[in-house]
Amino acid sequence: MTKNSSKDSAAVITLSTLREMKQRGEKFTCLTAYDASFASIMEDAGIEVLLVGDSLGMVIQGHDTTLPVTLNDMIYHTQCVNRGRRRALIMSDMPFMSDALPAQAFDNAARLIKEGGAHIVKIEGGEVMAETIRLLSERGIPVCGHLGLLPQSIHKTGGYRVQGRDDQGADKILADAKTLAEAGADLLLLECVPVGLAEKIVHAVKVPVIGIGAGSSCDAQVLVLYDMLGITPGKRPRFTKDFLKDSSGVHDAIVAYINAVKRGEFPAPEHTFS
Ligand code: KIV
Repeated sequence: MTKNSSKDSAAVITLSTLREMKQRGEKFTCLTAYDASFASIMEDAGIEVLLVGDSLGMVIQGHDTTLPVTLNDMIYHTQCVNRGRRRALIMSDMPFMSDALPAQAFDNAARLIKEGGAHIVKIEGGEVMAETIRLLSERGIPVCGHLGLLPQSIHKTGGYRVQGRDDQGADKILADAKTLAEAGADLLLLECVPVGLAEKIVHAVKVPVIGIGAGSSCDAQVLVLYDMLGITPGKRPRFTKDFLKDSSGVHDAIVAYINAVKRGEFPAPEHTFS
């Protein structure tokens, strides 16, 4: 029996599963994964979404930003994660400038799905990406729109800062969320926005909203694996928590994270922005 044939197909997580969870008010969980071993541990713990994030450029490759990550890097790590995956949905980031133009984004997203085994691709950016998201969506490629803090635009925005704190910025992110959902985005991800704005967006769109530094009203949470295991060097970002500190090992830390999200205990107010 091959590893894949041992999958319990009834339990495989699809976008419908996530939409139904949102409708039931049941939180789902996501962590970044970059290799088969951690993907397998996350599966055992019960994670619903494995994000092959371009944060791998920082935590795996040691760069200062996510910008040097290539499409081939993303395909390689998605393949690795896929080998450890049994039932979770695999979401892979479109790396910097791989989605700058709609046709280019279409070809590159197709490679992430065909060669990497991703189930959905994540694209950073607001209204400017709506045409691309519509093109991909209409041709059967699921997309998650990433709003708020956009790490790929770091040189434009000038730093890793909370977004949407002023009325104008908040209105723009809310409008972008509605536009991307209308263009066909299947999921949205909000990074580092005030809790009040995240709550408005969660209620304004039908698609599930995943938050990181966006408060507990989001339909799901994501963290960078290395942050929640306390491995990332330097000052821990406010919105993360070291779950390994009070656990007996990696598996238990991930279970603790999942339980804390499902019970609405993480993120707590000290992990959020106003
Ligand atoms: O690349 C990544 O890890 C991400 C998360 C920060 C959401 O996009």
